[in-house]
Amino acid sequence: MKVRVDPDRCQGHTLCAMRAPEVFELSEIDGHASVADEEVPADQEDQVNEAVMSCPERAIAIVST
Ligand code: F3S
Repeated sequence: MKVRVDPDRCQGHTLCAMRAPEVFELSEIDGHASVADEEVPADQEDQVNEAVMSCPERAIAIVST
C-alpha cells in the first residue's frame, strides 16, 4: 500500500499526523503534510486509512500497487 498527499489540497489541518505520526510529516513552515516514504509499513495501514478518512480536504490518497 502506498499513500500520497496532494500538496494543492492540503490546508494543514494536521489530523493525518495525529492519526499516523510515523507516516505523515508536517512542514515547520506551513504545517502542510507530506510523506517521507510513500510505501506504508504493514503495521501502519490502519492508521493511514484513518488519516485518509479524517482529512477534511480529502488531500490524502491511497495509491493502488
Ligand atoms: Fe493536510 Fe489533510 Fe493532513 S489538510 S495536514 S493532509 S489532515
